[in-house]
This record gives sequence, C-alpha cells and structure tokens, in this order.
Amino acid sequence: MTNSVFRLDGKTVLISGAGGGIGQALVRNFVAAGAKVVGADREAGMLAGLDLVGTVLFDQADAKGTRAAVERYLADHGAPDAVVSNAGFTRAETLDQLDDDVWASELGINLSGAYAMTDPIVAAMAARGSGSLVFISSVNALGHYGNPAYSAAKAGLVAYAKAIAVERGGQGVRANVICPGSVRTPAWDHRLAADPTLLDNVLPHYPLGRMVLPVEVANAAVFFACEAASGITGTVLPVDAGLTAGNLVFVDDVLRGK
Ligand SMILES: NC(=O)c1ccc[n+]([C@@H]2O[C@H](COP(=O)([O-])OP(=O)(O)OC[C@H]3O[C@@H](n4cnc5c(N)ncnc54)[C@H](O)[C@@H]3O)[C@@H](O)[C@H]2O)c1
Repeated sequence: MTNSVFRLDGKTVLISGAGGGIGQALVRNFVAAGAKVVGADREAGMLAGLDLVGTVLFDQADAKGTRAAVERYLADHGAPDAVVSNAGFTRAETLDQLDDDVWASELGINLSGAYAMTDPIVAAMAARGSGSLVFISSVNALGHYGNPAYSAAKAGLVAYAKAIAVERGGQGVRANVICPGSVRTPAWDHRLAADPTLLDNVLPHYPLGRMVLPVEVANAAVFFACEAASGITGTVLPVDAGLTAGNLVFVDDVLRGK
C-alpha cells in the first residue's frame, strides 16, 4: 500500500529523544510507515541499534548548542519532511521541590530547547514551502497532574505549536501537539523505584483501566506527519486512555460509592 496517504515512503523524519521509551516506538513506527528516520539524542549510545539513516547529537538543556547542531544538520542535508519534538525530562514532582534553578532547568530542556531545536527547521521548511511538526507535550499541559515547571513548559509547547500553525501555515508548514497520559517508559523508573506499588494508585484514574503504550503515542505522531492529516494544523490531541475526558475517581468514589 505504498500510495496510501497514511504512509511516508521516501520522506525524512527527524525525531528527538529517539533513544527513549516513546522515542524508540516513534522510530519503529515511522520506519514501518516507509520513512527515513534521523535520530537525535544527548549521546550516540542512546541511539545504538535503532534503524536510522543519520543521527544528530545535542543536549537540549543547552539552547545555543542545540540550535548549532540542528543548523549543521540542515546545512548538510536540508530540511526534513517532518519533525517529532519528543525529548523531555522532569524530576520536580510538586511545588515543594521547585526553586529558581529547577524551574529554569525544566523550562530550559522542555520548552526553550524544543524551540531552539525546531526554530531553524521551521524556517527551512517555510522556505521550501512544506513541512510538518509534531510536539510531544503531555496531559500536564491541559490540567494539573503534578510536575509544575514541566507542565508550564508543556503548555508552552501548545502555544508555540499554534504560533507555527498560524504564522507559517501560509508557507505550507503544519504543527500539531500530542498530549500523552502516563506511559510506562524509563521516565517512570525513578518513581517506581521509590514506590513499587505506584501503578495501583495510577490505574484507577484511567477510564481504559491502563496506561497508554508508547506505540499508541507513535501511531498518533505518524498520522499527524503524513498526508492523511494534510488539513490538520494547530490541534492538540490527548492520547491518554481517557484521563482528560473527566474524573473517573470522582465518579467511582462520589457517585458509584465504590
Ligand atoms: N512517559 C510518560 O508518562 C509521558 C507522559 C506524557 C508525556 N511524555 C513525554 O514524552 C516524551 C518522551 O518521554 P519518554 O516517556 O519516552 O521518556 P524517556 O526518559 O524514556 O525518554 C526521554 C528522551 O529524551 C531525551 N532527553 C532528555 N533530556 C534531554 C536533553 N537534555 N537533551 C537531549 N535529549 C534529552 C532522553 O535522552 C530520552 O531519549 C517526553 O517529552 C515526555 O515529557 C511522557
């Protein structure tokens, strides 16, 4: 089915955080859809063994270094057809763990770094007249589920994606946002190490009764990147097993008396 609008045969896709839990699923899904994938991450070891046509290395905490690495890539290869801005990090779980340095660090990696990574690509896509960006944000952008600084950064990605959609749509550039709920990836390792029973507390909040799988986030990203979504830009799609549809624990505790 090589002519399907759901495929990306011959297209080049740059994925940041490609070595992480969701990132590896993104790489697999984009390759399965026919794309040539360029993986970006902090260090080469994180990308070992992935099916990539190229790599770009940068620390997204360093905006200048990130921009410089992406500009070098663009000078050598030109703009990719699509980008998935997926790299992200959080440790400050509540307001009690925040201070100016932690705030700056989480905003730096998750928002300023994502801007530095994508801004030169947006310019190159606009000059060419086509391109699609997918930002991996979080349900934390839509309501408060902890991680205040990370949440502010993820909400910032929604605003930034809408700016691209509105101001660069005339040059053929689309930008959309995916907001995953809890996904069991290495990002949860530190929480589960602290409390191995944590998932017993997490699952009652999810209407589907489970966490989202990395491949389910990746499926949505492929959709946004391909021709099937050619009329879709500036949108925000929760992939969250129903978390943001309402409050299941409220319904169970207050109304069903469980
Ligand atoms: N796992 C979840 O529950 C969940 C929920 C909502 C959103 N997300 C988002 O999904 C994305 C992927 O997360 P994941 O669950 O796969 O986590 P992960 O920790 O498995 O992967 C994160 C990736 O980002 C990269 N990264 C982190 N800091 C970086 C930096 N300073 N410079 C460059 N790269 C850096 C890591 O090396 C890794 O490849 C993140 O943006 C995360 O915020 C995850």
